[in-house]
Amino acid sequence: MFQLEDDSSGSELRTDLEGVKEFIVNFMDYKKKRLAMVSSENHTSKLLRASYCLGLSDQYCSRLPQNKDLINQLTFSNVSPLDNLNEMARELTMSTFNAEDCDIRLLSGLSGLNVLLSSLLDENDVLFRMSDGHGGHLSTAPISRRLNINSHDMVLGEDYRLDMEHFAQLYRSVKPKVVFLDSSYVLFPYPVTQIREIVGPDTLIVYDASHIIAFVAGGLFQSPFDEGVDIIHATTHKTLWGPQKSMILFKHKGIISEKVQKNIEDLVSNTHLHHIFALYLALLEFKHFGAEYAKTLISDARYLAEKLESYGLNVVAGKYGYTESNQVWLDFGPKDEAIKQFKKLESLNISTNLICIPRGDWGLRLALNGITRSGAPEERLDELARIFGDLFFDRKDIKILQEEVQILKSNLGEPKYSFDDSLLGQELIDLLTTLE
Ligand SMILES: Cc1ncc(COP(=O)(O)O)c(C=O)c1O
Repeated sequence: MFQLEDDSSGSELRTDLEGVKEFIVNFMDYKKKRLAMVSSENHTSKLLRASYCLGLSDQYCSRLPQNKDLINQLTFSNVSPLDNLNEMARELTMSTFNAEDCDIRLLSGLSGLNVLLSSLLDENDVLFRMSDGHGGHLSTAPISRRLNINSHDMVLGEDYRLDMEHFAQLYRSVKPKVVFLDSSYVLFPYPVTQIREIVGPDTLIVYDASHIIAFVAGGLFQSPFDEGVDIIHATTHKTLWGPQKSMILFKHKGIISEKVQKNIEDLVSNTHLHHIFALYLALLEFKHFGAEYAKTLISDARYLAEKLESYGLNVVAGKYGYTESNQVWLDFGPKDEAIKQFKKLESLNISTNLICIPRGDWGLRLALNGITRSGAPEERLDELARIFGDLFFDRKDIKILQEEVQILKSNLGEPKYSFDDSLLGQELIDLLTTLE
């Protein structure tokens, strides 16, 4: 065996590897301590993480084009087990979301956003999307500008739902080709049925369900396709516990789904199969455990909101039941105060998002994705709310609170709602992690 000690460049090699080890150890320590309350993140199962050991990422997978004219001077082999995986994952995606067609090749939400805007709109076409200040994705406007799309903002009303009066007024002045519900701030469902009634059958309604996609899969929150949406776009790593990637779901297979997928073909040469396999596993986990998780996630968010309010915090939308999603928003008033509280939480290793709450105040967006996935009982949420109260009102020494967060975090443990604890699941993890 190769001995580091005997090698003439040993000391440099050793230094390099010790640097790698240091990074790994530091990251593991950070992950162990960090309590993520971030709406864009989740806690993947051991099986999903082990799936990356299979080495699917060592291999290229580019499909032989259907059209012979597109066969060029460089054609890769199309190996059938890989094709099977692609089809299996596509089938499971379509059946989970009741979609007639889908595309699961794109590697991030932003690539999905880019592909959709450039496929569905031409120069000077009119787009309605959420205003940045009301949760619209911060990249929609810059992408639209690059594509010379004529973009108009929709806004939330005082009840944190889409302001339909504003929408109807906007619609009277200009007719959109696409209505894009692209929000990252989501407490309540969109009034999709009302939007469809106003815009009629020819306008495309595209719903970016990244933050609530687990609820759509679990039959909760709202049912975008049934209410009138044509295309659902979602990242697969927020309320869904998959790998970081994107999926586009089409209500109907037809000209639009073909056009979008043709564009994706121009942009993706090699399908990253390790992500496809991980998505397949995530959806399988969801098939067996997802409905219960999704239901618990919503009730956990509401429970935490109530508890936070009982400890004196200003929770947004109390009048409307706080939330119907995974998110809870805290209002701290001025920006400086919100930044101060955000940093105090960071010092306890609790990660959240600092946000400008629609119509002025600043605060925090909390989310329960990872905590619910850990199977946390309500008493953990009680503890968490109490820690928030003690921190924000300076009722306890920061060192004591840091220790309390560490105990709470260690009590949360590994993901539940997965195959990890079953004999068969363990067998698969062993198989993957002991591969030659
Ligand atoms: C609604 C929404 N769409 C798209 C994205 C982009 O996803 P990604 O970060 O994978 O590019 C985000 C990111 O947080 C998002 O909130």
